[in-house]
Amino acid sequence: MNSPNNTNTTRAEFPLLAANPALAYLDNAASTQKPKTVLKAMDAFYCTSYANVHRSVYDLSERATAQYEDARGRVARFLNAQPQEIVFTKNATEAINLVAYSFGGGEVREGDEVLVSILEHHANFLPWQRLCARKKARLVVAPANADGTLDETSALALVSPRTKIVALTALSNVIGVPTPLARMIERAHQHGARVIIDGAQAVAHKRIDMRAMDADFFVFSGHKIFGPAGIGVLAARAELLETMQPFIVGGEMVKTVFLDNAEWNDIPWKFEAGTPPIAEAIGLKAALDFIESIGWQRLHTHEQTLTEYALERMRALKGVHIIGPKTFSSGRAPIISFTVNGVHPHDLASILNERHIAIRSGHFCAQPFLNALSYSAAARASFTIYNTRAEVDALIEGIAAAQKIFRV
Ligand SMILES: Cc1ncc(COP(=O)(O)O)c(C=O)c1O
Repeated sequence: MNSPNNTNTTRAEFPLLAANPALAYLDNAASTQKPKTVLKAMDAFYCTSYANVHRSVYDLSERATAQYEDARGRVARFLNAQPQEIVFTKNATEAINLVAYSFGGGEVREGDEVLVSILEHHANFLPWQRLCARKKARLVVAPANADGTLDETSALALVSPRTKIVALTALSNVIGVPTPLARMIERAHQHGARVIIDGAQAVAHKRIDMRAMDADFFVFSGHKIFGPAGIGVLAARAELLETMQPFIVGGEMVKTVFLDNAEWNDIPWKFEAGTPPIAEAIGLKAALDFIESIGWQRLHTHEQTLTEYALERMRALKGVHIIGPKTFSSGRAPIISFTVNGVHPHDLASILNERHIAIRSGHFCAQPFLNALSYSAAARASFTIYNTRAEVDALIEGIAAAQKIFRV
């Protein structure tokens, strides 16, 4: 087993990291690097089985279709859902927009409410803001506690018979703390509301079970979980998908087309208009195989140890402010946002870049949240299985070097 001190064997499985031994890639919450197995699966598909899917009767097309549908089955097993409940999209953002348009468009009326939290990424904020403007509904925003975690008591109290949709992140991409979902989902259902969970961050850190979670919709992106960019997943209860109108219309999502109307295809294909991301679905399957071959327990132990260490080292640095809870607690994901007195986050990221350390700087597509916490920008380091204590040390040294340059 790799300890956080020695992940050389894991690192070797990632061609980009193997080719850049000096690189400390600490921007995994934005996107992860890709293991060989994912790249090989996509390459093999293009070299041996590529054709468009669901369109033709020749062998190659049938082989491509079988592999594409096999990937759907793999995603379904990964989430404990049924294959017909899995819709492939371009990314998590598109999946949320699909739900806002197709489910929200049908269900939300003037005077209704959609409840989100202040912690949301723009991807789980703007589609609801737009839906509410279109429908003359009210966007209700559940607040955070002073430490940035969801104020669960207030959030629960905001669910009412007017609430039609509750849209929540499972894990903040800013503070790395899991959102308490169980009571919110239960309360929403008691009031007849439907729940969509943004799993873009959570999916890379813990096993998701759609059935146990009892959410109505769950979304994630392949690229944050070692898969390729260009594929996302909407998992939804079959009975909801059945009643929803398609989001995008065109080829393959339809059974029969007349001059003045059309009969939609069955689920999930009703929601997959046009040529889908075929190789990307196959790459995603390999990514899910990869994460399960690491094992959730090993991933979890590695990430928790590294996060605790990074928090401890950051707390010891003068002038560094951790956004969110400052101390480690079990379940905290390896995502740490912070600011450094007197050093703009972009300057810090540039100085770290000179040391071959890649971190994120800016508002992390969560402007309302950062503003609520009185920040306009911050820096963020995020870790995964291939990161090491040595990289955390390099980050800390880099921050100290930036403080010296700016004489703070
Ligand atoms: C919490 C959260 N939701 C949604 C997204 C959007 O993901 P994508 O850009 O892959 O659609 C992100 C991306 O950073 C995220 O962190």
